[in-house]
Amino acid sequence: MVLNDPIGAHGQEWWRHAVTYQIYPRSFADGDGDGVGDLPGITSRLPHLRDLGVDAVWISPFYTSPQKDHGYDVADYRDIDPLFGTLADADELLERAHEVGLKVIVDLVPNHTSDAHEWFQAALAAGPGSPERDRYLFRDSPAGAPGTPPNNWRSVFGGDAWTQVEDGQWYLHLFDASQPDLNWRNPEVGDMFVDVLRFWLDRGADGFRVDVAHGLFKEESLRDQVVAAGRQPSSDARDAADVPMVERTERDEPMWDQPEVHDVYRRWHEVLAKYDGDRMLVAEAWTQSPESMARYIREDEMSQAFNFAWLLASWSASEFTEVVTGTLAATEAVHGSPTWVLSNHDVDRHVTRYGGGPVGLARARAATLTMLALPGSAYLYQGEELGLEQVDVAPEHRSDPFWLRTGHVGRDGCRVPIPWSGEAPPFGFGPGDGQPWIPQPTAWAALTVEKQEADPDSTLAFYRAALAVRRTFAHTAGDAVEMLDLGPDVVAFRRGPLTVALNCGTEPVAVPDGDVLMASGPVGATLPADTAVWLG
Ligand code: GLC
Repeated sequence: MVLNDPIGAHGQEWWRHAVTYQIYPRSFADGDGDGVGDLPGITSRLPHLRDLGVDAVWISPFYTSPQKDHGYDVADYRDIDPLFGTLADADELLERAHEVGLKVIVDLVPNHTSDAHEWFQAALAAGPGSPERDRYLFRDSPAGAPGTPPNNWRSVFGGDAWTQVEDGQWYLHLFDASQPDLNWRNPEVGDMFVDVLRFWLDRGADGFRVDVAHGLFKEESLRDQVVAAGRQPSSDARDAADVPMVERTERDEPMWDQPEVHDVYRRWHEVLAKYDGDRMLVAEAWTQSPESMARYIREDEMSQAFNFAWLLASWSASEFTEVVTGTLAATEAVHGSPTWVLSNHDVDRHVTRYGGGPVGLARARAATLTMLALPGSAYLYQGEELGLEQVDVAPEHRSDPFWLRTGHVGRDGCRVPIPWSGEAPPFGFGPGDGQPWIPQPTAWAALTVEKQEADPDSTLAFYRAALAVRRTFAHTAGDAVEMLDLGPDVVAFRRGPLTVALNCGTEPVAVPDGDVLMASGPVGATLPADTAVWLG
């Protein structure tokens, strides 16, 4: 079976084969010693990323924000929060990154603003029926049911998706109550975001990661979500992840993935096309199928969309194979470019998802090596190059609104500040001994960048080597992937001169012919369990 055969000429834009490294600014590097990472901190650590061998960085939001969702609640899209620095620091970061050959992707949050945004404050002040309220989704209770929210939608973070204001109206927030959803049917909203895009493009941004890209438009009636018997209403795509892939059925989602959203990305495509240098858009769209994901990357829309099916797949050769074949078929159908991602700031780190400890780490390295061999581009999350695990953060140190609203689901554990050097926290995260905003485990003394740089068998050394080898074929191996059958426990494929095998079973399997270019662990005549190999 040959998949993703290159029909037609694919462009050679930088993002098609890029490896992009996600920076969560609070937790990457702290320049001023207040315990929270910042832009000067990022700039000072750019050499780490250059040495790692990535092509681009995506920086989670750094805008002015009350930080209720750590920056995904934006009060001013054209300024930097003082916690992270100034616009001059952003300019400096862009310039230094470009000097070392790194592209910079800015995180854009168009689905909602912060409740501190001037528009929302004006909406509250102006009252029901005003043009100010029309920029958001304010509604009344259903007739005859005062005190009842306008529909049954739930926030992704738990609880109702509606909050009532003093005059009795409700506003929609698919996330925290501090993140009111914008009304994208109001043309002022679209115009404002085009201005924001231009603001950052003019400053040199190479692209945008578009937050909640599938959420901007809701079904216009704002009707109830229809829920299957025995299940609760939910807006969280990840709720589907506890259902085995083969049993998943389409869910009714009037809040997500509406056809009108694609007009927004066609307009943005045109805006970016006026700039030099292949500026790009990557969608965070938790859609239900590879086909619906591919709609975001049609030729006149976005450049890429995160492939969350790869991240949601369990440690299973059949699931991984299904995701590879499904993704390549769907992206090829729109002449799009596939992406691969295993971790980000919203999910448990993949070492932990795959079981934690030495087994989890072996599997994480193997899954990473497999993804880095696939055509398209890959996204890495800060700290995965150190093999960091999810941290069980004490409740008093948790500040994720998801945790605050549910009391049990939280993302703080993948946001613990990076250990750079030294024997004790803060591990060089900031100057001096000041402790970071989430305490780091003392065991991370063994996982600092400094320690791993000195160890040829470290996870950091593995990532550097894999990225260096990837550079030798990423642009030339082509997009055609031929799946190979090496038994039910093995994901195997050929891509140009490269043969790749990942053993998800419990027993060693025979290694296909070829010279070992790179392996995720020790490989001899056989490929051990939880190991992947590249052969040339
Ligand atoms: C996206 C972000 C997540 C944030 C949410 C609301 O899913 O990745 O971190 O909480 O949007 O903006």
